[in-house]
Amino acid sequence: MTDRRFYVTTPIYYVNARPHLGHLYTTLLADTLARHYRQRCFETFFLTGTDEHGLNIERAAAAANLPVKAYVDATVAEFQRTFAAFGLQPDDWIRTTDPAHIAGAQTLWRQVRERGYIYKGHYEGWYCPSCNEFKEEVTPGEAPVCDIHLRPTEWVAEESYFFKLSAFRDRLLEFYETQPEAVQPDTRRNEVRSFVAANLRDLSISRISVKWGIPVPDDPAHTMYVWFDALSNYITALGYGNGRRQDFDRFWPYVLHLVGKDILRFHAVYWPAFLMAAGLPLPRRVFSHGMWLSGGRKMSKTPDASGRSNAIDLDVLRRHFSNDVVRYFCLREMAYGQDGDFTYEALIDRANGDLASGLGNLASRTVTLIRKAFGGAVPNVPPDAPEEARAMAATIAERFAAQRPVFLAHIERLALSRALETAWELVALLDKYLSDTAPWKLTAHPGAQPRLATILHTAAEGLRHLAVWLYPFLPDATGQLWNRLGLAGHPAAVAPEDLSWQRFEGAVVADGPGLFPRLDKTAIMNDIENTSRPGTPELTAAPSQAAEPSPAGGESGYITIDDFAKVELRVGQVLTAERVPKADKLLCLQVDVGETAPRQILAGIAQYYAPETLIGRKIVVVTNLAPRKLRGLESNGMLLAASVGEQGRPVIATFAEDVPNGARLK
Ligand code: ME8
Ligand code: MG
Repeated sequence: MTDRRFYVTTPIYYVNARPHLGHLYTTLLADTLARHYRQRCFETFFLTGTDEHGLNIERAAAAANLPVKAYVDATVAEFQRTFAAFGLQPDDWIRTTDPAHIAGAQTLWRQVRERGYIYKGHYEGWYCPSCNEFKEEVTPGEAPVCDIHLRPTEWVAEESYFFKLSAFRDRLLEFYETQPEAVQPDTRRNEVRSFVAANLRDLSISRISVKWGIPVPDDPAHTMYVWFDALSNYITALGYGNGRRQDFDRFWPYVLHLVGKDILRFHAVYWPAFLMAAGLPLPRRVFSHGMWLSGGRKMSKTPDASGRSNAIDLDVLRRHFSNDVVRYFCLREMAYGQDGDFTYEALIDRANGDLASGLGNLASRTVTLIRKAFGGAVPNVPPDAPEEARAMAATIAERFAAQRPVFLAHIERLALSRALETAWELVALLDKYLSDTAPWKLTAHPGAQPRLATILHTAAEGLRHLAVWLYPFLPDATGQLWNRLGLAGHPAAVAPEDLSWQRFEGAVVADGPGLFPRLDKTAIMNDIENTSRPGTPELTAAPSQAAEPSPAGGESGYITIDDFAKVELRVGQVLTAERVPKADKLLCLQVDVGETAPRQILAGIAQYYAPETLIGRKIVVVTNLAPRKLRGLESNGMLLAASVGEQGRPVIATFAEDVPNGARLK
């Protein structure tokens, strides 16, 4: 990053569920980078926050039976509590329900409109409320399933404002061409480029049917499309359009947007296009990381077809693991641009291997030897140190010097797992140095003091360097290591590039427990299995009660709104009704449910309804039941009826007011 300014953002998270490991991950990535650049005295601003408008939130609140604002307030508090418990330190937390954000988003809308890039029209298409995205398929019929959330999309047809996205095709392609570093990794940029080159349709950016949103300026019957609202957070948080212009001028566009690859398109296509339309500078960098998988599929709050979420629960994680262990695992295990597989076993193995046996053991061996041989005073290389011992120590110092730019370059390009590998090569180097020189064999020989001092100085100095390098990754453990080495201040206050191999002046090591206690794998795995609950439901009860969410349809007897939403109910009109030969209970109906062709539905109501009395009736049809055959005839849906009295006499549900065929019941 040039300009020694570092503005890092995370996505603003939907508040329709409690946070899970995926949300934690991007935020701790940002936290690590912010700590690193702060350490290097960059002007740093780390923004995270919450995306609180839109259909999915509106529904989550309804499911929790709470007013929407009360629901989002409670969920936001849960996010903030969780991130704080993991030691994450954002400089600001934007909420899209903040009045300042609302004002800023409206300013952006006006600016885009005044420059001629917004027009009114009519939109029809399939919408995934979990993505908040229109899918490519635009013909009515069988609802396509969202390939991210694995659930059916919903048909939307309404008046809408459009953004002239198509006008930006060439400028976007030029942006990717001339600033390839702006969208990373390269493979992802290539995907984005193909998408833009192939089909860039204008984008529907308002809704009439969604009430929970920012009113469109001068047309409050419309609310802003939640992505227009959400993306603008990155500048409204800096005061754009709401008065704190100085932050905007200071940090825009020196930004790094960290996002999961699930939402890269919004950040690498729509967001730059909105900014171009408003005449604002484009973001310097958008980086998309891979997804945490769990059980072989993207970790997600959204339940799959079986109604379960596979999300790793952050409370469980916290109960068993220190923050530094979680940070290390997440940052080490997810390779640049790739997906990562999350398992507790792998987490425990990393904690016991790289941390306890690696860095932790190196530190405790060094400190113990310094206490034993020098009463705790960290030695320096004495003038009478043997030449060969000096030469070996110098080699170590050189390796550190040579690895530093490599380490920094990995961080610069956001390959944090490579940065950690580089640091751990030095851990291994110091380990080998200690085994090769075997200082514990020298403590009993007074004549070996100069050699011993040289060795232990080198080990301690290596550890001091590592504490500084690794502070952003392991803020707690490196602070402790600093204390153990008897150093004043904190590694957070030392920039890696200012470090040089030097003398310790009067440092006395401190005793203390191991930096990384060994974890008992069997005990932890048993405990996790016994106490875990099935994932993080997307739509829990009120978040204040969310400590004990009940599985969908579980003992509580409640289902979530999502369970309900799986049942597609539509208004149908009976076109024809006939008895089915040799089946005295069945009627065969042709029903118009708003599709191109009527549906054939078989209903066991022949003993109660004369066929001709049904013709023209508006009824309620379950339209997404799997078709089945009755008496050789296919039935493509089910009509709803009350079951009355002991005989279960069916009374068909109908409407008191006129309703269009195909209208969805929700
Ligand atoms: O998309 N692995 O919010 P969201 C890694 N509100 N990261 C993951 C993850 C996983 N399995 N699951 C989630 C939204 N994430 C919008 C964003 S921004 C203007 C609006 C992380 O709650 C990752 O950063 O669905 C992903 O992009 C983000 O959470 C999606 O969070
Ligand atoms: Mg999502």
